[in-house]
Order: sequence, then structure tokens, then C-alpha cells
Amino acid sequence: MKKQIKNFNLCIGSFIAALLLICAAAGCAGTPAVPETPVTLKDAYKDYFKIGVAINRLVATGRTDVQADNARRTPELLEKDIALVKKHFNAIVNENDLKPILIHPNPGKDGYVFEFGDAYVKFGEDNKMYITGHTLLWHSQVPNWFFQGTETQGASNVSAVGMQVFAQAAPEAGATGTRGTRGGRGGGAGFGGGMGRGGFSGPRATREELIERMRDHIHTVVGRYKGKVKVWDVVNEAIGDGSATYRNTQWIQIIGEDFIPMAFKFAHEADPDAILRYNDYGLENKARRDKLKIIVKAIRDAGAPIHAIGTQTHINANTTFEQMDQALTDLESLGLPIHLTELDMNAAQGGQRGTNANIEGAAARTEGGLISEADKRQSEAYANLFRALIKHKDSVDLVVFWGVNDAVSWLGRANPLLFDGEDNPKPAFDAVMNVAIEAQKNNDYKN
Ligand code: GLA
Repeated sequence: MKKQIKNFNLCIGSFIAALLLICAAAGCAGTPAVPETPVTLKDAYKDYFKIGVAINRLVATGRTDVQADNARRTPELLEKDIALVKKHFNAIVNENDLKPILIHPNPGKDGYVFEFGDAYVKFGEDNKMYITGHTLLWHSQVPNWFFQGTETQGASNVSAVGMQVFAQAAPEAGATGTRGTRGGRGGGAGFGGGMGRGGFSGPRATREELIERMRDHIHTVVGRYKGKVKVWDVVNEAIGDGSATYRNTQWIQIIGEDFIPMAFKFAHEADPDAILRYNDYGLENKARRDKLKIIVKAIRDAGAPIHAIGTQTHINANTTFEQMDQALTDLESLGLPIHLTELDMNAAQGGQRGTNANIEGAAARTEGGLISEADKRQSEAYANLFRALIKHKDSVDLVVFWGVNDAVSWLGRANPLLFDGEDNPKPAFDAVMNVAIEAQKNNDYKN
């Protein structure tokens, strides 16, 4: 008898187990499937926006023997960096290798160097990532020959410029808060950009010459990666400081304000499917957004296509939800998708990215390392930022961190990213993950 009962119990047990299995597989009514807690950034945010990262040429090539700004990695650390990029991100941007100074260091059709740009794009394709391109035109990291008249253009000038390949625009010392705008830019903006004559002597290019160079550059670079690079920063940082709407650059001085719509038209000719973006910093500040609106209107009035706004978002750890909410609400009024293109958050005392065009400026501003409780402040600020992004999820399509980890960041001493120098997640990482998990629990999905 006992045996019979035991058999009967076994039978019932198996029956219930089978039923549970079928239910789990088919998703029976009344037993909602418990979603798995995401462990990667890209999964956590998959219902909201793509999560991208700027990669340097070490990551793109898998080589530690190539020169790259900020980045000296052992083979072991580089392996970890690459694994981290693949695990957490579904979009990439090149930190440097598609900028004019590197991809087009010398004049003419033969002046292009595609090796590292190609490696970058291949990395994205191999890993099925959304590939973005930065940047076709800028006042910095563009070689002098672009602006020089043909008569005096020569090899000596070109090689002098080439030596500055990895100098970058960097923050203004002492700038604080997301409200600050940058003061006037001095003459030494790195790659023959900035104000005034840049780093060459002799006559300047004529308007026609520069337009032709711009057309060739844009057609060649966009054309080469047509269909692969999905988004292009067509123009970077054309907004002026102080009362000027436009930054006073060689582009403006030689061509005029219409260099911007022209550039968008050339890019569209080269790849009609590419998303064309205008990119700038400090758009957390109303004064700069007002200038952005003037530029976007000028692009539209000229009949040129513009498909997205890139807001760099180099911000401070005291940035609030309200500030970001306000900025995003205002940016949305342009009716274009919003991309956060260069997100990092200075956890040190210094502020938002400023005007200084040298890497020492960044070093000075981040001197002293983290302030007390910096991690906590940074986590809270990152959480607030991502809450604002979720609130604006219907316009925000892409959020890109400017660097893989604190050690390779241009603001290294400010520890501005979600991973430390050994690729361990920081408290800010957990904070960002928790915001997505919380939003999913509240069924707060994109429309
Ligand atoms: C700007 C540029 C970026 C990068 C950063 C500093 O924001 O758009 O390409 O050079 O400065 O690293």
C-alpha cells in the first residue's frame, strides 16, 4: 500500500513538474515570466537607446605597439578593454582615426591614410556594432595644408603639422559647472585650426580652393565607408564663444558661414542613407543652445539635410536631473533625434570642458584627483542623467561614452567613466544599470 501511495505521489509530482515546464516554455497566463536582470549596459538599455563607446586605435587594431593618445596598455589590459567593449556596447565612435589630421594628413588624392580608419570600421563590422564617424570638419585636428594657398604649400609645412597628430583640444582650466561657457579660444588650437592664421605662413587658400578640398575630403571619406558608417559628425564645434554665434575659424574666415550647409550637402551626396549630425559641446547651457538653433535653421534654410543633434555632454558631477531635463526638452524642440556623443563626467573639482586647446589644460583642471565622496557624487549624477535620458527616451537614440575606462580617458585624472583603469565597474556603473532596471520594472518603455 505504502509503495502504491509513493508511486502515486511520484506520478503527481512528475505531472506537476511537466505542467510547470510546459507553462514556463509557453508563458501560461497568470504566471508572468520573470525577466532576467540585465548585466550589460547594452542589454539594460536595449529598449531605450543604443549604448556606445569611443575606441582608440589600440582597441581597433588589437595592437599595443601603435601610438595612441592617452593610451598605454599592456597586452593583458588591452585584451580586457576589447572584451569590455564587446560585452557592454553596441555602438562605437572613433576617438581620433577619422579626423582630418589622421585620415588626410597631406594634400590631394594621394594624401589620405586609411589604415587606422579601416581598422576602426572593420572592428565595428566584425562585432556587429553600430558604427559612427567623427568628424568630417572641425577647427582642430585638421592639417594646415587645408587652409594654405597652393603657391606656398610644401612638404616641410605638412610634416611639421604631422608631428602634432595627437595634440587635442582640452578643457579650460578652472571652468566649473555645466552653466559655464568657454571663453575666447587662443590661437594655438593644435592642428592649424583655432582662430587667426593657424600654423602656416604665406597666402591662404581661396574660398574656391577650400570648398574644393572640403568636397574632395568629404566625398572620399564618407564614400569609402558608405553603408558602413551609419552616422557622421559632419561639423564639430562651430558654435562661437561669448557673443559670437559662429566660432571664428579658418572655415568661417575663408568660406563663410555657408561652409556648414555645404558640408552637409556634400556628405549627403556621398552617402544618401547616412545620418548626418551637427555636434557641439556645452549644450547644457541655454546660450549655446540658442546658437545651435541658429545654425540648424541656417542648414535647413539652405535646403541641406540634417538628421540628428550631437550633444557631447562632457559634464560635471554636479549636473542635476533638472538641468539635463531642461536641456533635452529644449533640444527636442528642434524635432531631430538627440545623440549624446562624448559622454563623460568629471568627478574632480574642475568643471565642464573648457577652451584650452592643450592636454596640459586638462591635466591642470583635474589635478588633485577625486574629491571626497567623489564616487558617490558621480554615481548620483550619472543616475540623474540616465533618469533624464529615460524620460526623453523618445528623442534620445544613442548614448556614447567618451572612452572605455578612466585610464584611457582624455580626462584620466578626473575618473569620468563607468569603469576603472583595470576595467572593473565603478559605483557609477551600478547606478546607471539600476536606473534601467528600475525603469523596466515600471514598464517605462519607449513609444
Ligand atoms: C572634443 C572633440 C573630441 C575629442 C574631445 C577631447 O570634444 O569633439 O573629438 O577630441 O574634444 O578628447
